[in-house]
Amino acid sequence: MRIFSGIQPTGRKHLGNYIGAIRRYVEGQDQAAESIYCVVDLHATTVAYDPAELRERLYDTLAILVAAGLDPERCILFRQSDVSAHPELSWLLSSVTSWGDLNRMHQFKDKSAGQRELVSAGLFTYPVLMAADVLVHRATHVPVGDDQRQHIELMRDIAERFNARFGEVLVVPEGTYPPVGARIMDLQEPTRKMSTTGGTAEGTVYVLDPPKTIEKKIKRAVTDSDDPPVIRAGADKPGVTNLLEILAAARGITLAEAEASMADARGYGDLKAATAEAVIELLTPVRERYEELRPDERRLEEILAVGAEKAAASAAPVIADVREAMGVGRPR
Ligand code: TRP
Repeated sequence: MRIFSGIQPTGRKHLGNYIGAIRRYVEGQDQAAESIYCVVDLHATTVAYDPAELRERLYDTLAILVAAGLDPERCILFRQSDVSAHPELSWLLSSVTSWGDLNRMHQFKDKSAGQRELVSAGLFTYPVLMAADVLVHRATHVPVGDDQRQHIELMRDIAERFNARFGEVLVVPEGTYPPVGARIMDLQEPTRKMSTTGGTAEGTVYVLDPPKTIEKKIKRAVTDSDDPPVIRAGADKPGVTNLLEILAAARGITLAEAEASMADARGYGDLKAATAEAVIELLTPVRERYEELRPDERRLEEILAVGAEKAAASAAPVIADVREAMGVGRPR
């Protein structure tokens, strides 16, 4: 097993990102022969952005990943723009990518619809670069969120079409998704995913929120008006279910175990207190390590330099095989 995933350097990372992605990356380090994680700054340039801000957010994201437990000795952790094999393969793969398929991507439609700024060609070809990210390392497994299913399907099609036309050069990867139900919802609008862009500020817990803020947000979470209060999971109780899901994920127990642990609770206040405590316990060590790491940008650049070197070495033989198969460049 060879794991690859990419993470955007934009926005602040929230509890949903931590449980649904970052924590799974950390686990991947022990499950896979090789795990490769990339902060995708080239993808971030496809929408309006500020260059100085991009650098800051990249360091923030890297520091969160390291603080959460990604170990540059045990995984390859790098910045996308440091490894030119990624955009190079993206160009080469664009020749086996169907324009019609790109035109059907939900993410492109969502991000371009109603866009008042430039809709860039980069936004359109975003999924080709994403395919290149994974295929250039011959990764077998790609941990992502449910929102990336269509991109993963396209990536598989691209690899298959390449192999059918030029020979068996690329590995067709598989997406791995968070278990059903383990979706963290907005605390104020528990029928919507927790999200930096689409959610409510009060209903979103950030990885770097101080304990008092976490406690406040969870204590104000929407539950329901059942009287007497009923602490169980169910589609008719989205707020309570979300708190139980968060409690279970934070403690590393099942949903049923989380429900059972609340059997003696007197009301929703007890559920919120237990959930807040579990989340604070989960995130405090990450925040503390982040605060140590983030100011030392020179050290962060050293981590990235080591990662870039390893990622370039991993990509080089694949790029050589692709160029040879496609008949471009100097023959072997
Ligand atoms: N598109 C992904 C997201 O928005 C980020 C990403 C870029 C990625 N390249 C990738 C994810 C390669 C997995 C593999 O979340």
